[in-house]
Amino acid sequence: MPAWLKDAVFYEIYPQSFKDTNGDGIGDIEGIIEKLDYVTSLGCNALWINPCFDSPFKDAGYDVRDYKKVAPRYGTNEDLYRLFAEAHKKGIHVLLDLVPGHTSEEHEWFLESKKADRNQYSDRYVWTGSAFQGIGGHPYIGGEADRDGCYMLNFFKCQPALNYGFLNRTEDWQMAPDEPACIETREAMKDIMRFWLDKGCDGFRVDMADSLVKEDDENKSATGAIWKEVREMLDNDYPEAALISEWSNPLLALKYGFHADFYLDHHGNGYNTLIRDNETPGGDHSFLKKDGNGDIIRFLNDYLPKYDKTSDVGYISFITCNHDTPRPRRTLSYEELKVAYAMFLTLPGVPFIYYGDEIGMRYLEDVHTKEGGYARTGSRTPMQWDNSANKGFSTAPADRLYLPVDPADDAPTVADQEKDPSSLLNTVKALTALRHNEPDLKADAEFEVVYAEKDEFPFVFKRGNLIIGVNPSEKKASATLPRKMEKVFEIGNVHLSDASLIMEPQSFCVLR
Ligand code: GLC
Ligand code: CA
Repeated sequence: MPAWLKDAVFYEIYPQSFKDTNGDGIGDIEGIIEKLDYVTSLGCNALWINPCFDSPFKDAGYDVRDYKKVAPRYGTNEDLYRLFAEAHKKGIHVLLDLVPGHTSEEHEWFLESKKADRNQYSDRYVWTGSAFQGIGGHPYIGGEADRDGCYMLNFFKCQPALNYGFLNRTEDWQMAPDEPACIETREAMKDIMRFWLDKGCDGFRVDMADSLVKEDDENKSATGAIWKEVREMLDNDYPEAALISEWSNPLLALKYGFHADFYLDHHGNGYNTLIRDNETPGGDHSFLKKDGNGDIIRFLNDYLPKYDKTSDVGYISFITCNHDTPRPRRTLSYEELKVAYAMFLTLPGVPFIYYGDEIGMRYLEDVHTKEGGYARTGSRTPMQWDNSANKGFSTAPADRLYLPVDPADDAPTVADQEKDPSSLLNTVKALTALRHNEPDLKADAEFEVVYAEKDEFPFVFKRGNLIIGVNPSEKKASATLPRKMEKVFEIGNVHLSDASLIMEPQSFCVLR
């Protein structure tokens, strides 16, 4: 386990939309380098950069054409190496996004694999035995290649599935995970990881980490075996490298070697009940919504068993949102966001802030899809730095931007919020500073629920010697403390008398 993860607060950067330095309307690596001091000012000490590799960009770069080459629109490999070096000087670790399940349909491996004549890459992807033989239960394409076969897709049409084999085989074209071609696929992935780690990258966020071996068992044991092997490679050769999964099943992901697994926003799960429970009849019952009358028990029922069974092996990562999910500002006000982020930044595990969420950037409901974004596009608009043209994102004409900048008159900006002591941005900074200062707020410090009752507020939990109170509701709420305590941090107004904690509406506190 890389020790730096204990105190890591990640910042996720969608490179397209972060900072454009050459006026072509698209963010670039140089822009990230320019903004490293901003990352530091935010209290973030680690980055996850969405795929920045050569790609036809039919899925925003999750369709990789060359794993070892930076997309020219973002710069050169040298620029990325320089980003690693500059980030390291400032104590910032950098994770790249590894997409192991599929490539772009334009990847050289796939172009070879499609050919009628057998070659080194014929079995790098999943192919059936004839163009008229489809694949039950999986999306596939037929009639597009000279090769007589259909190929499996892993996500969109542009993303053919790499071949890691099938655990349960029912067709003769399905290979076992230990067939040479499948072993070659995973060796190729390890080679890509080594390539970037040798250049100074600090690890990977792994895309669709559970999607490698097909027809795997319930526990994904064959896919898991591959990740165990990867983890072994890291432990032996790159012990400081971090591996974080997009799996949303920490029980499996951490067991198979990931250091952390994201707690994603899946309908009805614990995360969803906290901030986005707006699909239940009768309104939004999110716990972090002031008038949601939400129920913390729904979150705890989902989260606690996961935490309890994994806290000695790895971390669960809370996110403010990511490039696939609506920004939290879609349903939460600034005041609600303060309490929400306070909770995410004081729970155990390694937290992630998605660029722009620190200022409460909006989810833009009506932007047209871009690069396979569809409903996700509204969370991918340019970062709002200041009140200059294009909110300081780019000097390109507005109609040449990657995506439009939030046109709202009151669109938040970093510059405005830096000046306002009570802004969301300054609250985030205070929270990250608190987290770095308090050993009991580190990723692995003890966690225990102190007070959580169905339909009641506040939610009170313990981290080591600290007690944390969360009252997102519009009602005053109180709880009994284990002993007389003093305030270390507060949002809103909180009173202490003897051993009782009285929390005004929309408040949060850390007590010692
Ligand atoms: C992951 C990524 C998403 C991408 C998909 C296919 O879910 O987060 O953006 O479209 O995988 O790679
Ligand atoms: Ca640019």
